[in-house]
Amino acid sequence: PHILVLNGPNLNLLGTREPEVYGRTTLAELEEFCRTSGEALGLSVDCRQSNREGELVDWVQEARDSAQGLVLNPAGYSHTSVALRDAVSAVGLPLIEVHLSNIHRRESFRHHSYISAVAEGVICGLGVEGYRLALQALAQKLKG
Ligand code: DQA
Repeated sequence: PHILVLNGPNLNLLGTREPEVYGRTTLAELEEFCRTSGEALGLSVDCRQSNREGELVDWVQEARDSAQGLVLNPAGYSHTSVALRDAVSAVGLPLIEVHLSNIHRRESFRHHSYISAVAEGVICGLGVEGYRLALQALAQKLKG
């Protein structure tokens, strides 16, 4: 199975962006970790990051024809984007929402995510390990 891993705005700055909150792993390292973890689970993993809401919407739509599942860290758009949620809903692929930090112990504006109601599951607060757990959950689900 093929899985698309999407990271939203500002995650290109991982490694140097508030490392006490998001850790010291860079985006390149995170993406490599996802590909390697995916391989071990029998998944082929494609990773992309964008700072643009519309580009993320386009990629979610395209996944309908190319992927069997999605891992999405919507970052700041979690808390604002009806458009991204509608895209996830429209494609109907199983999606696991991931956040590096525990959004529930941060500012209250981070406690609500528009994506969560259309996600198969939500993982937050476990850092990069959350992505591996999300891939594992998808691998299990796609096995039937
Ligand atoms: C985040 C949490 C969001 O609230 C924040 O806007 C991010 C990253 C996380 O991975 O912890 O950019 O999604």
